[in-house]
Amino acid sequence: MEIKELEEEIKRCKRCNLHKNRRNAVPGEGDISSGIMLIGEAPGYHEDVQGRPFVGAAGKFLNELLQLIGIKREDVYITNVVKCRPPNNREPNEDEIKACSKYLEKQISIIRPKIIITLGNVAKNYIFKKFKLRNEAISKIHGKVFKIQSIDSCIIIIPMYHPAAGLYDPRKKNEIIKDWLNIKGIVKNVLSKD
Ligand code: URA
Ligand code: SF4
Repeated sequence: MEIKELEEEIKRCKRCNLHKNRRNAVPGEGDISSGIMLIGEAPGYHEDVQGRPFVGAAGKFLNELLQLIGIKREDVYITNVVKCRPPNNREPNEDEIKACSKYLEKQISIIRPKIIITLGNVAKNYIFKKFKLRNEAISKIHGKVFKIQSIDSCIIIIPMYHPAAGLYDPRKKNEIIKDWLNIKGIVKNVLSKD
């Protein structure tokens, strides 16, 4: 299945109750060939209005982080665990994550990413479970690099703080910036092998 076809299917999806309050589903966007995937939690207000991931305040900070390490936003694929906005931006619940996981799984199998960067707890928990990594608190493992080696491929998984966590907390913001600067080399290395 092509990514565009999948994105269209997501826009029509009614697999869980979150479809009832959405203006737009937010399938994800970006380049699927760079091998780099960023996965957030769920759309917020601005994402729901525009149908695009990370276009609000957290997205603005994310764009700065990407720029800081020399990546163009359009060169990576950005999506969320859950594709429709939960009411009042609450965390998506287990049932919603389960219903929506079919789409993230398909995106991962189409893109076959070399690097997955998770943004926040929801994405970290999902991806760590999927790849059978030992899950720990984000405060302990943020910015660390985990490698999954299989016979024919290696996937690098990097759990990052959610960019929203840095918005009102300057100390956290600096920590996030440091984490991103640290992975500049790894990301560039993957990009240069395209
Ligand atoms: N927060 C997220 O987790 N995802 C978005 O797309 C926007 C904000
Ligand atoms: Fe479908 Fe996911 Fe939206 Fe639920 S959140 S309606 S499963 S696209």
